Amino acid sequence: MMPDINEIRKEFPIFENMKSGEVLPFAYLDNAATSHRPKCVIDAEMELYEKHNANPLRGSYPLSVEATDIYENARKSVRDFINASSASEIIFTRNTSESINLVAYSYGLTKVNEGDEVLVSIMEHHSNLLPWQMVTRKNGATLKFIECESDGSVDLEKVKELITEKTKIVAITHVSNVLGYENPVKEIAKLAHEKGAVIVVDGAQSTPHMKIDVKDMDVDFFAFSGHKMFGPMGIGVLYGKEDLLDKMPPFLTGGEMIDSVSRYDAVYAELPHKFEAGTVNAAGAAGLDAAITFMKRIGYEYMQERELMLTKRALDGLVKIPHIIVYGSDKAENHTGILTFKVDDVHPHDVSEVLIADSIAIRAGHHCAQPLLQYLGVNSTARASLMFYNTEDEIDRFLESIATIRERMGYGK
Ligand code: ALA
Repeated sequence: MMPDINEIRKEFPIFENMKSGEVLPFAYLDNAATSHRPKCVIDAEMELYEKHNANPLRGSYPLSVEATDIYENARKSVRDFINASSASEIIFTRNTSESINLVAYSYGLTKVNEGDEVLVSIMEHHSNLLPWQMVTRKNGATLKFIECESDGSVDLEKVKELITEKTKIVAITHVSNVLGYENPVKEIAKLAHEKGAVIVVDGAQSTPHMKIDVKDMDVDFFAFSGHKMFGPMGIGVLYGKEDLLDKMPPFLTGGEMIDSVSRYDAVYAELPHKFEAGTVNAAGAAGLDAAITFMKRIGYEYMQERELMLTKRALDGLVKIPHIIVYGSDKAENHTGILTFKVDDVHPHDVSEVLIADSIAIRAGHHCAQPLLQYLGVNSTARASLMFYNTEDEIDRFLESIATIRERMGYGK
């Protein structure tokens, strides 16, 4: 039997606090920015500090060993979660941005030379664009773009033409944070490998919504954040194929990433610690581990079924309201819960303000994807992003509010 969503919502302290009035009640439709966290995740973080607090990977006394075990067990959970071959392929970072910067500085700057090309898509979040602007600018290489179709999809034939012997890196988002379309990264990885390039995938928006299998997709690097998938802020992951990571120089240097140090030289630690300089975020890793356990318990099947039902309800409702433009596909299944839209004549920030007045939280602006918005011919849009824990009632309230916006802003119906 499918779990009752109201029972699952009780596991999220923020929803309970909204019920009791301790937190201002809001329909939270900004899940692409960050998700809410269940109590098991918050407890796991707290427990690390309350019961196992010592610097991990350093001391040989029980508290430090416990903290180390919790941290390394979280790494193994992540390995299983994304089907990596080895825990050495899992590097803990702060977030997706840091993971991609690690690849750009450590792999990009050493492997991309003058005359080479780096291929990104027009849909990239700035996190998967600026690092490649930096690499190509510094090394005299060219940055090229995969454009998207009006529904947000990419045409694989066009991608095939863009990947040449000059291409060293293809950096692409798994799911656009604006259009919600899932890119065919497995097919793109194959095209990249045929030309000797590596593929770097930004998985920030896919990991909360779909099963990730890095082996099946055969991607070289895959980055994601804990906080978008019910985990804590400040913990992120970089997956990299072991043979690639092994040959890469460290990104940051300092404590605990060494084997030995002399006055003028150092021997770096083995993977994965070579890439984890300084005191690690063991509490964040513990929370991420708990988030993975939570997701496994709920199951992608249930989450996807609810997300699709909610997205369909929202999309069907939005397209019926006059003067609304919804960007991307007309099919709910191609949105991964993300609905980016505009209300004719009304600035997206005003749309957001009206929704706030009705206790509904969305995001308005450029969504850190300015080149995509320029490509779509807009400066700014409104975006509602859903999670399985949203309710039909929240979607209906959102639609009712949207339907009144033009009138409330003085534009008539
Ligand atoms: N990357 C996050 C978003 O799309 C912050 O909102």
